[in-house]
Formats: sequence, C-alpha cells, structure tokens
Amino acid sequence: MRLLSVRLIFSLILAITLVSLLFSYNQVLEEKRSLRTDLEHRAAVLAESLAGNVGPHLENGSIKKLQGIVEQFSNRERLAGVAILDTKLEPVAQSVGLAQWMQSQPSAVAQGIAQNQIQSVFVRTTNGRLHVYVLPLHRDGELVGELVIVHDASYIDAQIAHVWRDTFLRVLVQVFLIVLITVLIVRWSIAGPIARAAQWMRALRAGKVAPSSVAISESDLLRPLTREMTSIAESLAAARLAAEREAKLREASESSWTAERLSVHVRSKLGHSQLFVVSNREPFSHVHQGKSVQVIVPASGLVTALEPVLCACDGTWIAHGNGDADRETVDSHDRLRVPPEEPKYTLRRVWLTKEEEEGYYYGFSNEGIWPLCHIAHTRPIFRDADFEHYRQANQKFAKAVLEEMANTERPVLLVQDYHFALLPRLIKKQRPDARVAIFWHIPWPSSESFEICPWQRELLDGLLGADLVGFHIQSHYTNFLQTVDRTLECRIDWEHFTVNREGHSTLVKPFPISVEFPDPPSATTDNSPYEDRVTLLRELGVEALFLGVGVDRVDYTKGILERLLAIERMLEKNPTYQGKFTFVQIGSPSRTHIKRYHDLLAAVEAEAERINWRFQTAKWKPIVFLKRHCSHNEISRYYRAADLCLVTSLHDGMNLVAKEFIAARHDEQGVLILSRFTGAARELRDALMVNPYDIEHTADAIRVALEMHSDERTARMQRLRKQVKEQNIYRWAGSLIGELCGVRLDVSDRTQITDRATASAAR
Ligand code: G6P
Repeated sequence: MRLLSVRLIFSLILAITLVSLLFSYNQVLEEKRSLRTDLEHRAAVLAESLAGNVGPHLENGSIKKLQGIVEQFSNRERLAGVAILDTKLEPVAQSVGLAQWMQSQPSAVAQGIAQNQIQSVFVRTTNGRLHVYVLPLHRDGELVGELVIVHDASYIDAQIAHVWRDTFLRVLVQVFLIVLITVLIVRWSIAGPIARAAQWMRALRAGKVAPSSVAISESDLLRPLTREMTSIAESLAAARLAAEREAKLREASESSWTAERLSVHVRSKLGHSQLFVVSNREPFSHVHQGKSVQVIVPASGLVTALEPVLCACDGTWIAHGNGDADRETVDSHDRLRVPPEEPKYTLRRVWLTKEEEEGYYYGFSNEGIWPLCHIAHTRPIFRDADFEHYRQANQKFAKAVLEEMANTERPVLLVQDYHFALLPRLIKKQRPDARVAIFWHIPWPSSESFEICPWQRELLDGLLGADLVGFHIQSHYTNFLQTVDRTLECRIDWEHFTVNREGHSTLVKPFPISVEFPDPPSATTDNSPYEDRVTLLRELGVEALFLGVGVDRVDYTKGILERLLAIERMLEKNPTYQGKFTFVQIGSPSRTHIKRYHDLLAAVEAEAERINWRFQTAKWKPIVFLKRHCSHNEISRYYRAADLCLVTSLHDGMNLVAKEFIAARHDEQGVLILSRFTGAARELRDALMVNPYDIEHTADAIRVALEMHSDERTARMQRLRKQVKEQNIYRWAGSLIGELCGVRLDVSDRTQITDRATASAAR
C-alpha cells in the first residue's frame, strides 16, 4: 500500500509540475512579449516627439539647447538616458548617465547611422538589461545624426522572475494538497476497507465470524467485491461445516448417521438393484381446495419417518392414492416424482374402490388389527367381508409392486405396517429374488390376545413370507415369536432371531424407528421461543404464561381424554396455574368414517369445552383444541415454544411426536412428559414417565415439568437430544436395509430369477 501511495503521489506531482511549468512558460513568454512591445512603443513615441524638438536646434548648432532637452527628458521613469549623435557617431548632446555606456559604441547605435534605419534592440549590460531605440535624424532628406533613447529594461526581467516565483509557490501548494488528499483518500477509501476486509478474512479463516457479516460497507470502493466475498465466505463456511461433520463422523465412527451416509450405504448394499417401499398411506396427497389443487403431507408417523429415507435413497414408494385430486397429478403409469418442490423419488399410486377401502382399510385394518394390537380397551371387530377385501387389496398392491419391480433384478422391498400382512408372501411367490422386509409400526400383542383374530394363521403365514420382520422394541418381537410358536408348525431359532418354515427362513428383529434430526436453524432465522409463544398465543386469542402442547391424530390409543383430565386435575390441585397455563392440543381428525373415531372426536371437543367452561376467564382458557390438520412447520412452532409436550398414549408402537419434539428443541429447553406404554419410553429415559391411566400422577408430572429447574431441564433435554440424534431415522433405515441385504436368499439359480421376473411382469 505504501509503494502504491508513493507511486501515485510521485506521478501526480510530476504531472502537475509539468503542466504548471508548461502553462507558466507560456505565460512568461506572453508577459515578456507584451512588456517589450509596450517599452518599444513607448520608446518610439518618445523618440518621435523628441525628434521634433531636436531638429531645429541641431540645424542651428545650438548644443546647449540640445543638452537642455536631453537633460529634461533624462529624468523620465525607467529612462536610462537620451543621446544625440552626429553622423560620425560623435555625441552632440547626451545624458550624463549614458556617457560611459556610449563609449562602448554599442552596435545598434552604429547600425542606426550605417543603415539609416530605426533600431530597437534589447542588450544585456553589467548593470542589467537595456532597451536601445535609435532614430536616424534627417534634414532635407539627408541624414544628419541620430537620436538614441535608452530605457532600463531590467524591470521586465524582474517581472518575469516574479511570474516564475509565483509558479513555483503555486506548484508547491498544489503538491502539498495533492499529497495530503492522496494520502487521505488512500487511507480512507482503499487502505482502510482493504485492511478491514483483510481483518475480516483473517477472522473468517479462524472461524470467529459468520459469513454474513462481510466487513465491506455499502459506500466503499470495494463494494462490487462484497457479493463475491460473501459467496466465497459462504462456500468456505459450508466446506468447513462439511469437514467438521465429516471429522465428527469419523470420530464418532459408527455412531452418526446422516442422509448422505445412508445414501452411500444403501447404494453400496443395493448395487444395481433398487429400493421399493409400499405403505397404505401416501407421503403426499393432492386435494382440491376451491379451484386450486393443494399438496398435503398426511399426519402419520410412518410418513414422517420414511419420507427422509426415500429422499436420501431415491427409489419407488407405492401407496394408496386417496386425495381427491390424486388422479389428476399422476402420469399414465400412475406415477409422479416427489417431493413436489424438489423431486427425489417416485410415488406410484394405487387406486381402491370405495368398497375396498371400506373393507380393507376401515374394516379389517383399523377396526380389526389396530384395536387387536393396541391394548386400549377397544374391542376389535372382525368381519368375513372385511378380510376378503383385505386379501384383495393386498393382491392389488402386490400387483402394483411387481409391476414396478419388473425391470429390476434382486429388488429390495420394504413393506410397511399392518395393512399388508399378506403382501410379503405374495411378492416372494412371484419374485423369490426380491429381498422383502415388513416393518410392523404398531405393537404386537401377546399370543393370547392375537389368538382372537380368526385369520391369525393367514396373517402369520403372510408375514413369514418376508425375509425380515421388524418391530420397534423387543417385547413386540418376543410377542410375535411366541404367537408364531403357538400358532404355526415351524422352528424358531431364539438365538439368531429366526423362524424357519417350509424351507424359508425369516429374521425377526427390533429396529426402533426415529425421526430426522435437523441442524439448528441459523441464528438470524430462529426466533426466541418466548417471542414465538407470545405470537402463537396471540394468534389463538389467549393470554398465558406457560404453554403445553400435544400433537396427535385423534385416536383412542393416544390417551387424549386422559390427558385433558390430567390438565383439569393439575389446575384443581394448583390453582396458581389457573390463568397462567394453556395447553394446545393439535388434533388431526383421523379415520372419522369409523364410529369409534367419530365419537372420540366429539368427546374430545366436549371434554375440552367442559374444562374450559369450568376455568376460563375473559382472556385465558386452559385448553385450545385445534381440530385440524397442521403442517409440519406449524407444528414445529408449537414444539419450539412450549414449556412441555404431553404424550399420553395408552399404547403406542413407538410414538414419533415425542422424538419430533426433542429434535425441534435446539434451545435444549422444554420437558417431555411421556407415557410408559409407548415404544419411545424404552429409549427416552430422561422424559418424565407417566401412566396415563393415573390421572393424579400425570397432573403432578405437569406441575413438576412447569417447575423444573432450568439446569435439570437442560441436562435432561441434552441427553434426550443426544439419544434422538444418534438413533435417528437414517440409522434405522441403514440397519434395516443392511440386515435385509445380508439375508441369504433361498434362490441361487439366476436364470430362474430372471425367468420369474419376466413372467411376473407379463402377468
Ligand atoms: C399409525 C400407523 C400408520 C398410519 C398412521 C396414520 O402410525 O402405524 O401406518 O399411516 O397411524 O393413520 P392413517 O390411518 O391415517 O394412515
């Protein structure tokens, strides 16, 4: 920077000096010319007027008179003297001061007589510059002498010297100002911002500042670089983050699973094969809303869990298209790429008739198997017709799956949930080369309970067609194995968790499902939970200090009524919380076509109303029941703003709301109250465990959560977050797919595989 300044200053000084000198030189010439002309003119005028006076006296030879005239004029300003000479150059009369100089016989004086011409010249003498004007004198046309007028012209040199001095001073002042301005500009507008930018880059390199805080202001000379620097900084930050993640991954070795790791893992396991998933519930449904079509992500733990897996691994998800605009959004093969905003995998929709949906989904699946598997004291209903529809629907889905798999060798299929107990065998019959797993998302009851299902043998047989059957927790898979043991002819290897039947081996294992664990949002976008709480409550028209949240499908297994009773009891026992604690229940209506669900929805509404009526004031009420489907973003706002989250399921396979709440609490605050009858209770030991049937106990847990010391709250939440982060959905998918791909297939003849694949596709 110093060298630049010196160069800049030096160049400017040189340029300005040259320009000034050039202009001054011109000015000097002009000035000199004008002064000389003026002097010559004055000398000429004086000579003319003197010549008139001198003429007669020269004629008469009156020397005295001539001397008098000469003396008289000699006193004029700047006149060095006057001389009158005859033709022999002898002085006739002359000023005293000129006598000595005239003796040197200046050439102009001699030339005046010799050439008989006016002479006007400047001569330099030891006393300075003189102007000599020589006017030849005539009488009757004949040269009789000459008049010499000598002026002191040294004032012209003085004037010129003055001009040069002024020029020098001007250049000096200009140089000083230029140096000053240059130094200041360089410092303020160049060196300063560059130094700041360099400092910022140093800090960025050291990871002490955020990329968004670029240190170049809008008005700076370097502004055009700001964008570039910002994006370089962002790239650096992203690279650093990736490197950090990578390093952490390496450090944690097996403990961390990310979308990227899963993607690489699945690709390496699948080779040239592909991943297929089949579930009843689709990840995105399209519905008409007014004149437009809206995309909805259904409220389903299964969807929450599997969607990130498919996004990471691509593949095809086959599901029931139940949105009223679903048919309008697929191609001719009933497929579309999703997620709509950034497609990453294929969704293949299967269409069911009203009767099929009634029998298979509402009837056998949700009035039969669902209550059969959940200990929630709702009696299962089994109808022959429903099971027939269940069988047909399984066949329909199997057909769709086989179509999708037709061009894939050794496909990997993940069947989801109790809607498809028959599907694994149907697929394996046609495609023995396929690796098939079924994951049972709900509890598996004791063998005695399961026995009441009239089609238990068919269901078990269908399930054991799979190479792998997965459950959330150990008690579910133990129950399953005992049920199999009691019901079917088979050999169970308890040591290796396998069921061997009719030459086919099925691995049975627990794989506790989970959620994605997102990175914390950047500081600029993340509002404080307290700001969010105020906004949320204002939107709901309630004023409260404490906020609790519950998020469920309105299902009798979720213990929503028990939860409301516990809140009522807490307010009864702790009146100080009246007017201060509000519980928001997000309740997405579910399966309302079934009377039990329809009645439950009404009961929850009535119970919330009853409790509110009992306690509410003008600006506050204890319960806000949001009876609608909420988007993931909307639910996240409640998760982040709440003091506590209540999960009071009477029985639950896992319960992903509990894990989602934990994953959303980047602030490491909030307390989870969790039913001990959920699968999640096995893992989330730092939640406040409750028995939802014990209203008194749950009421106390709510108070404990509200009054928990913040250190304890943080410590618990930190441990919970560690657990969910490590045991995330990518780990679940990684180990499930890893296990499945490690299973030895019963078929070894490749030709046979290809023949069957082609045949099944043709069917
Ligand atoms: C449970 C089941 C899922 C189901 C979800 C929502 O989580 O395990 O298979 O998708 O409930 O129920 P729905 O009947 O609306 O799909």
